[in-house]
Amino acid sequence: MTLRHILSADQFDIDLLTQLYDRAEWMREKYYDNDGGRDSLRRKFSRRDAVLFFYEPSSRTYLSFSMAASKLGLIPHAVINAKDFSSASKGETSTDTQRVLNEYDPDVVIIRHHITGAVAQMAEVSRVPIINAGDGKGEHPTQYLLDTYTIYRKFKKLSGMKIVIGGDLARGRTAKSLARGLSKFEGNEFVFVSTPELMMDEEVKQILDERGVRYQEYTDMNPGVFADASIVYWTRAQNERPKEKDGEKASVIDPALLTKFSITPDVMNWMPNHSILMHPLPIDRDKSKTKGEIVEDVYQDSRCMIFNQSGNGLWIRMALLEYVLNGA
Ligand code: NCD
Repeated sequence: MTLRHILSADQFDIDLLTQLYDRAEWMREKYYDNDGGRDSLRRKFSRRDAVLFFYEPSSRTYLSFSMAASKLGLIPHAVINAKDFSSASKGETSTDTQRVLNEYDPDVVIIRHHITGAVAQMAEVSRVPIINAGDGKGEHPTQYLLDTYTIYRKFKKLSGMKIVIGGDLARGRTAKSLARGLSKFEGNEFVFVSTPELMMDEEVKQILDERGVRYQEYTDMNPGVFADASIVYWTRAQNERPKEKDGEKASVIDPALLTKFSITPDVMNWMPNHSILMHPLPIDRDKSKTKGEIVEDVYQDSRCMIFNQSGNGLWIRMALLEYVLNGA
């Protein structure tokens, strides 16, 4: 069954994932084949319409989707900073916005929203396929696709791995989607590393418990955390999303809290040679606040995949657009 809306990492089984990775590889080769590949890709969905409706800031997800669309011949139509520049600022609900979008008959709508669950609500009233490009503290399924595509390119599998995920796990949606999605595959175990305040969500841990997946939680960095790891996935402090406690907005978490979780050359020495370091970006490099999640020297390490990982987003988003449009 073809998925109509792309809302959660949980929606993808291994067959669909590997199908998308194959198509992403194909897109990449075709694009660089020097034999008219670029032009034939651009004819694929010639002059069809992709709407990008972004309520929150985005560099990579926005631009890679926009470029993926145009490389396939789609015309991207963007509303960025939609919280301030769309009718949302006049009190329009997101579902009313979607009802209006329906009338313009786009072929696909890609949405980033500041409210958890809002993209799913828009999908409920949508007449066209919706892709969740990140919703509040919820999920980021297309980041999951590019993250697992990066992992698959390196290890040729998504199972039987120790995955260490660190940083702001309570408010970061990429970490949640990665843990949710990879918990479906045999033999994966997780290590979560953070302060108690920013530790992985109960909801995700409950899913892991239900699936019988092993995980450990650490509130400090030590060699044992990283021993035997295949993947080390790091994230930044998401201070633009204050953590809500008991219905009240808690104050912004002191970024210095995460300083002790920086990836330094010492940490790289604890990681196995075959492992890879990943990060969804952006990295907060404000050294007055913290050392940064990943310190400069680490960028040179051949296990550091972060820019390669981000580049993979273009090809996998092209593959996803093709999948959604063919199914529509
Ligand atoms: C992430 C996001 O927006 O969820 N970035 C991304 O899409 N690559 C992570 C972040 O903002 O820290």
